[in-house]
Amino acid sequence: CLDDYAVSPDHGFLPNGLPLSRLTHSYYHPWETLASQLPSLIKNGQIRSMIDNLPILTTSWLRSEPEWRRAYSILGFLTHAYIWGGEKPKDILPPCISKPLMEISSRLGLPPCATYAALTLWNFTTAPEADLTDPDNVSLLTSFTGTKDEEWFMVISVAIEAKGARLLSLMLDAIAAATVHDIQRLTALLYSFSDGLRDLTTTLNRMYEKNDPNVFFYVLRPFLAGSKNMTAAGLPDGVFYDVGEGQGKWHQYSGGSNAQSSLIQTFDIFLGVNHSATGDIKPGTGYIQEMRNYMPASHRHFLEKLSDLSNIRAYVTSAQDAPELKEAYNAAVMTLSSFRDAHIQIVTRYIVMPARSGLPAEHTSDKVNLATASSQIDGLQDNKPSGLYGTGGTSLIPFLKQTRDTTKNAAC
Ligand code: ALA
Repeated sequence: CLDDYAVSPDHGFLPNGLPLSRLTHSYYHPWETLASQLPSLIKNGQIRSMIDNLPILTTSWLRSEPEWRRAYSILGFLTHAYIWGGEKPKDILPPCISKPLMEISSRLGLPPCATYAALTLWNFTTAPEADLTDPDNVSLLTSFTGTKDEEWFMVISVAIEAKGARLLSLMLDAIAAATVHDIQRLTALLYSFSDGLRDLTTTLNRMYEKNDPNVFFYVLRPFLAGSKNMTAAGLPDGVFYDVGEGQGKWHQYSGGSNAQSSLIQTFDIFLGVNHSATGDIKPGTGYIQEMRNYMPASHRHFLEKLSDLSNIRAYVTSAQDAPELKEAYNAAVMTLSSFRDAHIQIVTRYIVMPARSGLPAEHTSDKVNLATASSQIDGLQDNKPSGLYGTGGTSLIPFLKQTRDTTKNAAC
């Protein structure tokens, strides 16, 4: 059943084998050459002219699924490198990128930009048989900056996806236990689920080890930005995808965001947490729901199926005389909320603080007290945007806090 949705019991939403590290057909060498030189081409200001000189390649020589994914990943990187790789953003994407990228993304059911799938899910490698749950074992295929910091930022997510894979079968078992009214088993599974989530939080907190907030904020983050809600950054209409012969269209897309991780969304679906926060992106449309359109189509369909099956919250709410079940469910909700707290602290350290100080964060880093910093941020009124937007386009802290609070409020 998981197989039907390109979900692996061992690797979850990561590909079953490793992502393809290179398109070997010589026809695609021009793409691979730029991908391998991306950090230096960006650094010395040559990336746009190099992309402008690319031939318009067709997708006819892409055969296997891993090849389509690799092509998507490369072109996602080249798209953002082209848009953001100069003093001012470029709002016209040339046909040598737009044309093949539109075809590839529509085949994969993804938008034509650097999504979580392009940046992370399909962009890592490791030694044969290495344990993917340890970020130290994982490296990145394509990079904007060539820094360890960027690699670490991405491979922490790979390790979380790999660790989270175990939770997928656990969640399905729990749904089955609720279906047959096996309260004892469901209670035990919910506690195991909490243990697994705590383990993910431990991995998330390893972010501080090898990702310097200055490098993240000043060097990497600009390339993760999207084209939606980017008027102030110089893209009032988004980006014109020029597909040649006088054809093309303006598009606005969210930038890279871990709300595009199918794994994280499975936790909410499983526990019956309904997020409706819009993060001001488009009144009426929940941002988290909208981010499903930024996932590979098969994974989006898996989430839809899981939503149909999800029965845990309704079962716990209706179960009479089962205080231990309620306790186990509430513990799981609180653990998911703590995971989100850890994320808010990271955002505080890597985005809010550098943005506020306007100074390279190294001047403050040693003395930072994360708990204090995030409680100050917590002091901001929920409905009062701080003016800081996430790369996904949401009003950053109010959105993250609302998402965390919605999680907490699912307790029953
Ligand atoms: N969504 C993250 C940010 O806003 C990557 O920087």
